[in-house]
Amino acid sequence: MIKVGIIGGSGYTGGELIRLLLNHAEAKIDFVFSTTRAGKALSSAHPDILGLTDMKFSGEINPNIDVVFLCLGHGNSKKFLEENTFSPETKIIDLSNDFRLQEDAVYQGKTFVYGLPELHKEQIIPASYIANPGCFATAVQLALLPLAKAGRLSNEVHINAVTGSTGAGVGLSATSHFSWRNNNVSWYKPFTHQHLGEIGESVASFGNPVGTLNFLPNRGNFTRGIFATAYTKFEGALEEAQSLYGDFYSNAVFTHVSGDPIHLKQVVNTNNCHIHLHKHEDVLLITSAIDNLLKGASGQAIQNMNLIFGFDEKEGLQLKAGVF
Ligand SMILES: NC(=O)c1ccc[n+]([C@@H]2O[C@H](COP(=O)([O-])OP(=O)(O)OC[C@H]3O[C@@H](n4cnc5c(N)ncnc54)[C@H](OP(=O)(O)O)[C@@H]3O)[C@@H](O)[C@H]2O)c1
Repeated sequence: MIKVGIIGGSGYTGGELIRLLLNHAEAKIDFVFSTTRAGKALSSAHPDILGLTDMKFSGEINPNIDVVFLCLGHGNSKKFLEENTFSPETKIIDLSNDFRLQEDAVYQGKTFVYGLPELHKEQIIPASYIANPGCFATAVQLALLPLAKAGRLSNEVHINAVTGSTGAGVGLSATSHFSWRNNNVSWYKPFTHQHLGEIGESVASFGNPVGTLNFLPNRGNFTRGIFATAYTKFEGALEEAQSLYGDFYSNAVFTHVSGDPIHLKQVVNTNNCHIHLHKHEDVLLITSAIDNLLKGASGQAIQNMNLIFGFDEKEGLQLKAGVF
């Protein structure tokens, strides 16, 4: 059993990691660090795990663990690593955007690998430091990467994605308040969302021309999941596009191409990404759906841990969708 530490354990992604790790056959939680709940039961923040563990939040870290997950807001991962030192053998998986871009990937002599297994599995396996992708970034990249690799993403792309309220973290804000969010929908950061940086780097990584990516993120009236659509001109038959996607994801464990139109609930509470392709005249519509807290965050982080430690990639991640 490897020993695992979690920083930011009372938040949403930290809570999801606790839930996943309590059911992981090869990993054991060593400590869950919290700045606000030290000494309190984990179930004080995550009541659903009552009876599953007696562990309490810790106000101290154990530097001699096998892997630590940083579940902190942007900027706080760097700060935490400045103020705390782990053993050189400790693997670090960071869920923030502090190390995702190439210009940020080397920090304190550590090189962070961008942890999207569908793109970088060979680099993730020997890595010690992982920058876990963003949630929108995961859904959008998985929708676009096969076209980018094939050099078929040179036309303008229009992307629209709706996220659940858990995407904004546990802290209450005007737009996550029930009275505002319920029965409501709105866009935010049109064409400027910060995930465009990591999406842009990944689709450009094949060296093929890429058209402008117009990205419109939306806040949805539900708690978890991301439903993303992207469309662009595609000279070719639907069957050709399906074949590109089928080939690209032939070895992917969690990303699956559906012949039927998809909906959000078929992936919520799972680590899966489902993708569907539709052709109308000369336009290809790609739909992708993920759970923002699993494939978009903590599930993908465990998938990366499994790859690094040589565990079955699916260990601890064979989850059941809510569906109804
Ligand atoms: N939510 C998502 O769907 C999602 C998806 C992908 C990526 N992410 C990224 O993952 C990271 C965590 O997201 P989240 O949604 O879990 O956030 P969150 O719910 O706000 O949780 C973050 C936790 O960090 C701890 N914390 C706050 N300031 C800290 C500091 N200065 N030092 C140490 N700990 C501190 C707090 O826990 P304590 O009070 O217990 O210390 C807080 O609950 C963010 O960077 C986010 O962008 C989130």
